[in-house]
Amino acid sequence: MARTSSTFVCQSCGNTTSKWSGRCEACGEWNTIVEEAPLSSGPAGKTLGAAKGRAAKLTDLSHPEAPPPRTACSIGELDRVLGGGLVPGSAILVGGDPGIGKSTLLLQAAAAFAQAGLKVIYASGEEASAQVRMRAQRLGLEQAPVKLAAETNLRDIITTLERERPALVIVDSIQTMWADNVGSAPGSVGQVRAAAHELTTFAKGRDTAVIMVGHVTKDGQIAGPRVVEHMVDTVLYFEGERGHQFRILRSVKNRFGPADEIGVFEMTGGGLSEIGNPSALFLSERGNPAPGSVVFSGIEGTRPVLVEFQALVAPSPHSQPRRTVVGWDGGRLAMILAVLEARCGIPFAGLDVYLNVAGGMKISEPAADLAVAAALLSAREDVALPPETVVFGEISLSGALRPVAQTENRLKEAQKLGFSTAILPRGGKAKGGGMTLTEMPDLAAVVGEVFGAG
Ligand code: TYD
Ligand code: MG
Repeated sequence: MARTSSTFVCQSCGNTTSKWSGRCEACGEWNTIVEEAPLSSGPAGKTLGAAKGRAAKLTDLSHPEAPPPRTACSIGELDRVLGGGLVPGSAILVGGDPGIGKSTLLLQAAAAFAQAGLKVIYASGEEASAQVRMRAQRLGLEQAPVKLAAETNLRDIITTLERERPALVIVDSIQTMWADNVGSAPGSVGQVRAAAHELTTFAKGRDTAVIMVGHVTKDGQIAGPRVVEHMVDTVLYFEGERGHQFRILRSVKNRFGPADEIGVFEMTGGGLSEIGNPSALFLSERGNPAPGSVVFSGIEGTRPVLVEFQALVAPSPHSQPRRTVVGWDGGRLAMILAVLEARCGIPFAGLDVYLNVAGGMKISEPAADLAVAAALLSAREDVALPPETVVFGEISLSGALRPVAQTENRLKEAQKLGFSTAILPRGGKAKGGGMTLTEMPDLAAVVGEVFGAG
């Protein structure tokens, strides 16, 4: 007889075991293991070896070197993040905080791809069709040839898709979908995984692209098991801060394009509009040169983007001084503070340090090390850098500066935006064009020559 016993699934990491325990042995979380009915049970008596399976020669596949055909839409920033348009049969997960604008973005995307000639279905489990229609009206998209489906039962959705055979289906959100053959509640790990699995399998089999919205947890992960991120081809995060108008769509994984690509949007009364020149936007709030403010010439995905680092250094009333970072890695900040102290004789003991990336951008490139160090020095020494200066370079633990990739592109973008000077590592074989290059061997030289300290 077929085994129909349940499995036990960790609601935090998705690890599956055959027996319950108080603590997940995979991720170490307590009280996260829940009994769930198996995803689907195979035909009675069949062993795995008896199932059908087939392998094809790599060389037999038609045109393996041909790039996948893509459909571009009128939202260029979205196409860019997808790697140059939508790939048929691809599965895409879009995560983001509640209220950040995911539904708005995807309704606009649905309309744009429909106008580009694709058959699009927008399946909403969060809002009734009337609500979606109202939103479309507000966005001026009520005439777009998009079909709406307000369904949450996976079986109903798959039936609809089988009948309609769309080229793109948008599922908003994956957490509201439920499969009636899985015994756990909607939103649970088992349900999310089953729904993502069914939808991606359908996508692959029918050449239907599927975009799934996923809610994120408090610590910024897409809620549900990490396995969903592994199932899909592309994972995008829609980021931004409530107080700010701009939103960033970032690819963190993409089988069909570069990861770390960003698209920049602005939330307006009429929906999201594209920002073609993000550098100008991120620098728009910059006033007169102030101590602690440094412009970094970074690379996001395939294009250069200029952003402003702001630092504040002040005597601390606490025995344990504060280190507060927004938009940059706290561990990396600690490292730069340690290098400044150990290699350049600039102590930060007894000082509170605040570091912020203006505009709600998140920077993860090590190339920003030197810009961070310059912002910290500028704040601590109360010396503003000359106004038309950009800074970039990686700092090693020895205090040496390492040249970074795409130096030319970084300089070109800076020059385009009216910057005339760059502080950068020596040895990058940089050609400045019209810019003055201050090439530095190590951090101690920057401390002495740029800030007159040390
Ligand atoms: P929404 O797309 O519903 O967010 P999510 O699906 O990520 O939860 O966006 C909700 C916010 O966006 C809401 O606070 C209102 C704002 N908004 C605008 O500012 N302009 C618009 O045209 C629309 C449709 C929404
Ligand atoms: Mg929504």
